[in-house]
Amino acid sequence: MTSAPVSPVRVLTGITTSGTPHLGNYVGAIRPTVRASRLPGVQSFYFLADYHALIKTGDPARVQRSTREIAATWLACGLDPEAVTFYRQSDIPEIPELTWLLTCVTGKGLLNRAHAYKAAVDKNTAAGTEPDDGVTAGLFMYPVLMAADILMFNAHQVPVGRDQIQHIEMARDIASSFNHLYGEHFTLPAAVIEEHVATLPGLDGRKMSKSYDNTIPLFAPRDQLRKLILGIVTDSRAPGEPKDTAGSALFQLFQAFATADETAELAQAYADGIAWGEAKERLFERLDREIAPLRAVYDELIQDPARLERVLRTGADKARSIATPFTARLRHAVGLRALDAADAAPAARDKVRAAAPQFKQYREADGRFRIKLVDARGDALLVSHGFDNPREAAQLMARLQREGAAALPAVAAHLAESGDPGLVAEALAHWSTTHP
Ligand code: TRP
Repeated sequence: MTSAPVSPVRVLTGITTSGTPHLGNYVGAIRPTVRASRLPGVQSFYFLADYHALIKTGDPARVQRSTREIAATWLACGLDPEAVTFYRQSDIPEIPELTWLLTCVTGKGLLNRAHAYKAAVDKNTAAGTEPDDGVTAGLFMYPVLMAADILMFNAHQVPVGRDQIQHIEMARDIASSFNHLYGEHFTLPAAVIEEHVATLPGLDGRKMSKSYDNTIPLFAPRDQLRKLILGIVTDSRAPGEPKDTAGSALFQLFQAFATADETAELAQAYADGIAWGEAKERLFERLDREIAPLRAVYDELIQDPARLERVLRTGADKARSIATPFTARLRHAVGLRALDAADAAPAARDKVRAAAPQFKQYREADGRFRIKLVDARGDALLVSHGFDNPREAAQLMARLQREGAAALPAVAAHLAESGDPGLVAEALAHWSTTHP
């Protein structure tokens, strides 16, 4: 038996360029993804989500600074731009183009259900203001832009934090809608959640997050790092008193960087009543041991934006060698084509349209009853004239369901609209095989 060559798993993730990377980002996202990028059999795509940043901030200097910091951080932490595809989202004009193609197959209702949008609406409702007050269309469209990021490279796996799971599910939904309508172009992505990576506590013991203003910048200079660590909240136990490791932010931070043995040692020191000041010094030294070599590279890179720019441009070329031809294929698929281009596969496309047809019975504003047959996208294939009596409409529907296309000549007089005959026949045949 021969086995087919195993195609690599494509892994893709992005970071929104609206802030300065902190220890939580490092432990939760950067460190694990850089490690994963070194595994054999994976093809990785890492990018700076600067279009997404525009949704979060209107401060141009901040977007530029953050983009530079995050690019330098990723490289300093060991991302190898030769081995992975490392690029800036806004260098890929195909991304906003794909966003539009996807927008046109995305239900508005799907986006209404997005957590971030719903949270904004709930907040307004609670405050008694208009539901959409202060909500930009960018925030509303966030999941579609993110779907374009992922689907452009047909990523199988998307490592993200828990708060992003819904976005990956939406990307799947959007991909399915597109595939259903236009053929199998997109791989359905899956979220990859780092189960064993604990969320890091911040200076005040709550989850480390920019929104709580409790972060420790990953590449704070050594003396500033020490100062910040000395400011971590602890309880008021005096030196010599045994300390609890459970619920100790200091301990959790230490654990995220130390080996099991080192962690056990600190646990023992807690039990033995180590002074908080000393525990903090130990944490600082342990952290700095891992970070100092990375910081040296970071400091060098951050001084050399031209070099970062070159790395990103090279990455963009690499990304576009995939995005440009793929977008051409998608444009063709949706009908954005040269006028003298042949329709590549009308039969295949019609199969897709004819799949999953549905009958609908409804009452119009004029009070009359109609039925229609719609394709997967909801476009009408057949629409009846209005009946005064709903039973007549139901009988017409039943006859079409029972007899399929054979009934068409006999019922033609009842139909107000009828699509391409081949397509209608195929949809009716499909309906009967799926509704035995
Ligand atoms: N929304 C992600 C975040 O805020 C960033 C992001 C944008 C992303 N596009 C992506 C992550 C595509 C994974 C894949 O964390």
